[in-house]
Amino acid sequence: EESKQIVLVEDEALPKATKAKIVSLTPLRGSRVRVSGWVHRLRDQKDLIFVVLRDGTGYLQTILSSRVAKTFNALTLTLESSIEVFGTLQAVPEGKTAPGGHELIVDYWQVLGSAPGNEDAFTNRLNEKSDPSILADLRHLVLRGETSSSVLRLRAALLSAFRASYGAHDILEVTPPCMVQTQVEGGATLFKFDYYGQPAFLTQSSQLYLETCLPALGDVFCVQESFRAENSHTRRHLSEYTHLEAELAFVTFDDLMTHIEAIICETVDKLLADPASAALIKQLNPNFTPPSRPFLRISYVDAIDWLNEHGIQHEKEDAEGNAVRDADGRPIMVDHAVGDDIAEAAERQMTDIIGKPVFLHGFPAELKAFYMKKIKGEGPAYTESCDLLMPNVGEIVGGSMRISDMEELLAAYKREGIDPTPYYWFTDQRKYGTCEHGGYGLGVERFLAWLANRYTVRECTLYPRWPNRATP
Ligand code: 4AD
Repeated sequence: EESKQIVLVEDEALPKATKAKIVSLTPLRGSRVRVSGWVHRLRDQKDLIFVVLRDGTGYLQTILSSRVAKTFNALTLTLESSIEVFGTLQAVPEGKTAPGGHELIVDYWQVLGSAPGNEDAFTNRLNEKSDPSILADLRHLVLRGETSSSVLRLRAALLSAFRASYGAHDILEVTPPCMVQTQVEGGATLFKFDYYGQPAFLTQSSQLYLETCLPALGDVFCVQESFRAENSHTRRHLSEYTHLEAELAFVTFDDLMTHIEAIICETVDKLLADPASAALIKQLNPNFTPPSRPFLRISYVDAIDWLNEHGIQHEKEDAEGNAVRDADGRPIMVDHAVGDDIAEAAERQMTDIIGKPVFLHGFPAELKAFYMKKIKGEGPAYTESCDLLMPNVGEIVGGSMRISDMEELLAAYKREGIDPTPYYWFTDQRKYGTCEHGGYGLGVERFLAWLANRYTVRECTLYPRWPNRATP
């Protein structure tokens, strides 16, 4: 009864509080501060209320005591309410720990937006053992958790570090369009839409545009969404993903692989050198060790042998690509042969056994996209192409040297049944001062899944999209 009558007012005799975000509180120790955030954890202990406040930049232990802890708002406070606290920031006493090593002794506070405490309480909505599809529907609430928010925080650091690495190599960032009228990686995975009465697609890759930038801007990269209408419900497929792509002029295939290694290792080194991102990696992936250079390189043909030597087989398929089954309905497993695609399952087993990054290179032309440069020689055509595979994820980078000769490109369109008309701008690249060039695309979510040891790429993006999932 008495508590309901306590009305808190800020004591005007106290020094003015400095407004700050949690991450930048340390220099304000000993002074009076003002912090807004959400109630992340809440614990009542006799006359004290301990609130761990979260503002997205960090966590802050706050202590409400005496009058401040006896108001109606204090006694009915719930998790996930937004509040503003005023008080003096103190280093935690010897032998105690708290985030940032300090705690706020609150002298005045107010509720900004309360959260329900009944059956609609946050902890009831978000039961971590819920069905994955319920958690997907509640992604907007899941994001408030310590793990999910740390993954996204690391993602931001990762993108900045990549940008810094490209800057250090004099590679310029460009922003190609998402709405396009050409395909890059095959018609089967294109999202089509109506563009003022014309057919158009959501981009699968910005590669062709990056190629046109070389004579204008030199080596370029982009961080752009790519879209794949793939009916793949796997740990590593999204319908929309963030694609980090780069294109380099006047390079050899060997230069290209060395460059990919350098960008990845320099980016990882930057993340580990920064205390904030190093702490995130330690939190999410305590056993992470940076890869050493050079990465292993295995040719496609040798990889086929390796798979057979290690008894890694694949499902036998009929001419339509359907699994052939035995009398009991089990898929029939067969050895790999040169010409086979190395499917996700085999690739994953291979990387998990090898246990470190590995480049597979020199894939057969018939397995790869139309634009890839072929290795000269007799017999079946192989390409100057590479996939970089990482343990726990598999392919994170796909790259190649590009066809630089116009006649060869025209023949490639023909072979693939592609109408060259809408590609006139890409073809012109070979007409006006062609050059040997190559590039690659890196799946940011896959890279992050490797770095942060996440089970699926769905955890590595803000609002993941996969077949039949575009909400929230
Ligand atoms: O191997 P991909 O299809 O290569 C290209 O698109 C090239 N045109 C890139 C280039 O050379 N500029 O895709 C490149 C990478 C893959 O290695 C993978 O990491 C990622 O993009 N990726 C996906 N990530 C998530 N979900 C999907 N559905 C993905 N498809 C590709």
